[in-house]
Amino acid sequence: MTELLDAGERLGPEELRAAQLERLRATLARVYERVPFYRASFDKAGVRPDDCRSLADLARFPFTTKTDLRDNYPFGMFAVPETDVRRLHASSGTTGLPTVVGYTENDLSMWADMVARSLRAAGARPGHKVHVAYGYGLFTGGLGAHYGAERLGCTVIPASGGMTARQVRLIQDFRPEVIMVTPSYMLTILDEFERQGVDPRGTSLRVGVFGAEPWTEEMRREIEERFAIDAVDIYGLSEVMGPGVSQECVETKDGLHIWEDHFYPEVVDPFTGEVLPDGEQGELVFTSLTKEAMPVIRYRTRDLTRLLPGTARPAFRRMEKVTGRSDDMVILRGVNLFPTQVEEIVLRTPAVAPHFQLRLTREGRMDALTIRAEARAGATPEDRSAAALAIATAVKDGIGVSVTVEVVDPETLERSVGKIKRIVDLRGKEG
Ligand code: DLL
Repeated sequence: MTELLDAGERLGPEELRAAQLERLRATLARVYERVPFYRASFDKAGVRPDDCRSLADLARFPFTTKTDLRDNYPFGMFAVPETDVRRLHASSGTTGLPTVVGYTENDLSMWADMVARSLRAAGARPGHKVHVAYGYGLFTGGLGAHYGAERLGCTVIPASGGMTARQVRLIQDFRPEVIMVTPSYMLTILDEFERQGVDPRGTSLRVGVFGAEPWTEEMRREIEERFAIDAVDIYGLSEVMGPGVSQECVETKDGLHIWEDHFYPEVVDPFTGEVLPDGEQGELVFTSLTKEAMPVIRYRTRDLTRLLPGTARPAFRRMEKVTGRSDDMVILRGVNLFPTQVEEIVLRTPAVAPHFQLRLTREGRMDALTIRAEARAGATPEDRSAAALAIATAVKDGIGVSVTVEVVDPETLERSVGKIKRIVDLRGKEG
């Protein structure tokens, strides 16, 4: 295996720290010189790039948020002339302006290298066929996966998202070993296999590289069993690059190794911003170390996780599977609840399918939550009421809050074609 590793993966711990510090200092100097936003924010915090003499000194620098990116829409965060930008991507966000990101030729090459490294960690090899069902377009998923798979020496099937019947046909006819798709869309594809009467365990697929949204160990088990594949996690975000910031190794499936030679992670207290020691849960923050067009300094991802020591790639720290975004946290009568917690419970309940929705309403001055889960085909009315009771009880016992559970007919909840939206917020919209 070691002969397959690239130069960055072979760095020893000291070499890695030295490279990180050198790259960090160069990045800080670059943005201070070239991006008025960073110059102003460093000046306001009273820090200069030279104040960073160790990796720990990074904590003295100010954070960057999504609002900062919006305020500088569209190209205000770029550190190169617009003519040096070879590609733009954008993430839609739920409200207001999208955030725009840009890449130089070197950035695109580094990105392809990181996705190639990720795919290799997932078990893909040169010569494999990779079916890419992440959306192509302004979303980074499709094109990011695409160029990384090509860089590794794979044959890419650029299916993009949607046209699910065709996805099934392509998988059967072109016989890919690897699929890259959101876990929720993989379930939609699973339904389509079953609708067509094709055995999903009999395909050529061996590995699925799933990301772009939170998913649980229960979902991993469901997908692995139903398709007879290995399911591994890939993480990333547009502001930092796109897919391939971190990746789970197929041999350990124990969280995602962060490609720290390019992306420096910190975990901070989401409220105070204080840096937390490795092992403690908090908000993930990234500083890019090698990006040219749009470096980011201490970017607040809003994703909650913790940092753990490396295993299959010992030099790099791991991040635990993301439990959720602080934005997706539902606060119900003072109790915090994440859709992933409900996913664990729903997927452990045999009479329901792995499709569910969280509907938030307001009753008087109190918020209320209804979990809608879909019955599996063939579930009797008794199975359904038992399942509803089992889910409500598990939520009450495990999370500590009372919810209503409705088990609805098969094939009635909306299916994902990309990132699934679990929460339907009806507060203030009823009546
Ligand atoms: O979702 C990039 C990507 C594409 C990653 C394909 C993996 C595969 P954005 O659209 O900018 O970029 O959304 C980034 O999605 O901050 C997380 O909240 C969430 N996310 C991405 N990967 C994971 C994951 C892409 N593996 C936002 N687990 C991030 C949990 C994830 N959440």
